[in-house]
Amino acid sequence: MANVIIVGAQWGDEGKGKIIDLLTPFADVVIRFQGGNNAGHTLVIKGEKFIFHLIPSGILHPDKSCVIGNGVVIDPHVLWEEILNLKSHGYFENDNQLLISEEAHLILPHHRIIDGARERMLKDSKIGTTGRGIGPAYEDKAARIGVRIGGILDEDELLLKLKRFFDIKNKFLTAVLGEEAVSLPKYFESHREIFFNLRKYITNTSLFLYQQIKAGKNLLFEGAQGSLLDLDHGTYPYVTSSHTVAGNACCGAGIGPTYIDHVMGVSKAYTTRVGSGPFPTELKDEVGDLIREKGAEFGSTTGRPRRCGWFDSVILRHAIRINGLTSLAITKMDVLNDIDPIKICTGYRLEDKIITEVPADIGILSKCEPIYEDLPGWKGPISDIRSFSDLPENAKRFIERVEELCGIEVFIISVGSEREESIIKANPFIM
Ligand code: GDP
Ligand code: IMO
Ligand code: MG
Repeated sequence: MANVIIVGAQWGDEGKGKIIDLLTPFADVVIRFQGGNNAGHTLVIKGEKFIFHLIPSGILHPDKSCVIGNGVVIDPHVLWEEILNLKSHGYFENDNQLLISEEAHLILPHHRIIDGARERMLKDSKIGTTGRGIGPAYEDKAARIGVRIGGILDEDELLLKLKRFFDIKNKFLTAVLGEEAVSLPKYFESHREIFFNLRKYITNTSLFLYQQIKAGKNLLFEGAQGSLLDLDHGTYPYVTSSHTVAGNACCGAGIGPTYIDHVMGVSKAYTTRVGSGPFPTELKDEVGDLIREKGAEFGSTTGRPRRCGWFDSVILRHAIRINGLTSLAITKMDVLNDIDPIKICTGYRLEDKIITEVPADIGILSKCEPIYEDLPGWKGPISDIRSFSDLPENAKRFIERVEELCGIEVFIISVGSEREESIIKANPFIM
């Protein structure tokens, strides 16, 4: 039995969805524990592409349970669309496959309006959010004026809960932001059926997971976003509004830390970032453009072009520390085929000092110049390779150098977007 957490080790979009899907056959339950539909997790199965925003990436495996934990914020309309889309493609036939925590908070229309209005107010210093209302939803949860999804189980009570929320937030929208108030009757009427349809999934997921653990089942926790987007440990304020680190898997799912056996970080063989904020190894030249083009680096949620740069061992070591990572999965190795040399950042230069840790202050991080080491490239294609020993020598050397610089073992190497295009050196469920 093993319970495994998977988190992004960079700024999101590391290929977590693919790695989760790859490991799902070894798990019994897959659990999302934070974030919302700011996430976009892509799976490619026999040429067909699926992008998950809220439902755990394990849902395509019909014998696995999928949990949306208490730490997730849920836009009910987006969730319902995702459910319908899966069903229309012949997946998720058994409704018992999905369990949603009664404690998860709803994203309501005010959240999206405030997200957009605040970004406009911030002008040049905007965060570059996904515009999905994520930050404002978590703010209202902490302010204790949010509405939990469990509220939809009783329609009369739900109306009272929504009224309490709408009264406060409509005042804010009109008096502070100069926006129009959102009509509660209109909102309620347009969502009534969705709320009714979602009722069957709502339950006490903390209790369910506890029972699964006691029955010796394997849990797989699916992190969203990435370590450098963590509210405390990321590049604040250019972060998301939840804790993306492994420690939050327990809080966001309602289980204790003593049940966790392994934490795997997912990193690309290079680095990308969407939205604003410092990115020391960013390439604003033709090599960056080449990586973007070869790696199809456009956001799964918003379609925005991703900023691209070299692999940064400083941020990886930071991710290893703040998550307690016990292994890595390196994705998109194939994207570096035929690029020579390949650079790896080993540290930063700040004036006359060498820095080996990520500074908390983004003003300082922005001034850091990456120190690179050149590694020789390799010739592709490599997507048909299934064993580490069959990789080109220089590709093996790249992985070994990542392991040396970060002080961690690479368990999985992804060499293409398809489920099968993977090299599994070690499996956290079989140890
Ligand atoms: P996530 O948010 O961490 O799940 O990552 P995204 O799905 O947003 O972005 C990763 C993208 O890379 C997706 O389009 C994946 O299909 C794709 N991908 C994942 N692993 C590989 C790989 O090894 N090679 C290539 N070429 N694409 C990959
Ligand atoms: P997955 O799970 C990459 C980024 C946004 C923005 C910042 C704050 O697919 O890896 P938010 O809407 O959360 O308030 O935006 O965080 N961001 C992501 N970047 N992948 C994601 O999710 C992201 N979710 C949020 O671009 O910079
Ligand atoms: Mg993504």
